[in-house]
Amino acid sequence: LPPPRPVRGVVLVGLMGAGKTSVGRRLAAALATPFVDSDDEVERAARMTVPEIFATMGEPSFRDGERRVIARLLEGGPRIIATGGGAWMNDETRAAIRARGAVVVWLRAELDTLVERVSRRAGRPLLAQGNPREILAGLMEVRHPVYALADVVVDSHAGDRHETVVARIIDA
Ligand code: S3P
Repeated sequence: LPPPRPVRGVVLVGLMGAGKTSVGRRLAAALATPFVDSDDEVERAARMTVPEIFATMGEPSFRDGERRVIARLLEGGPRIIATGGGAWMNDETRAAIRARGAVVVWLRAELDTLVERVSRRAGRPLLAQGNPREILAGLMEVRHPVYALADVVVDSHAGDRHETVVARIIDA
């Protein structure tokens, strides 16, 4: 039997490179539920890329847009939402997600795994400021305690198949 469709939204949080978008897309297919990526939606609304938004309007504007986009997406019926890694760190965004009753999943990965995965795609302004490994290690320290406020934690190890991680989320 296929898993039942979620009646609440599912919000994936976690660091850059955790696999929120790739896993989220496949989770959505498995649950026959629409998928959206908050970075894509912010880019569409702003008609600029994430690096352009950071460069021209600054990170606070990006965070503001991100919160509004996520809140709006959660109002349109159950969806699987991959958020940008900083979304859940923002008090107002967290409150907006909580207020809409979504299930929050922390996709957790080890530092080596994150470093390897972020090297596959450019366009992350926070990592362009220095050594990605050092930046991710610093973000881990600050962000892990806050990601831990999620409803469920699911590990994504190097070499795990997307389907394996999807199955872990559905089980959780
Ligand atoms: C960010 C993560 C990015 C994007 C922006 C900032 C962060 O999304 O929202 O570059 O603060 O961790 P991904 O987690 O999808 O890379």
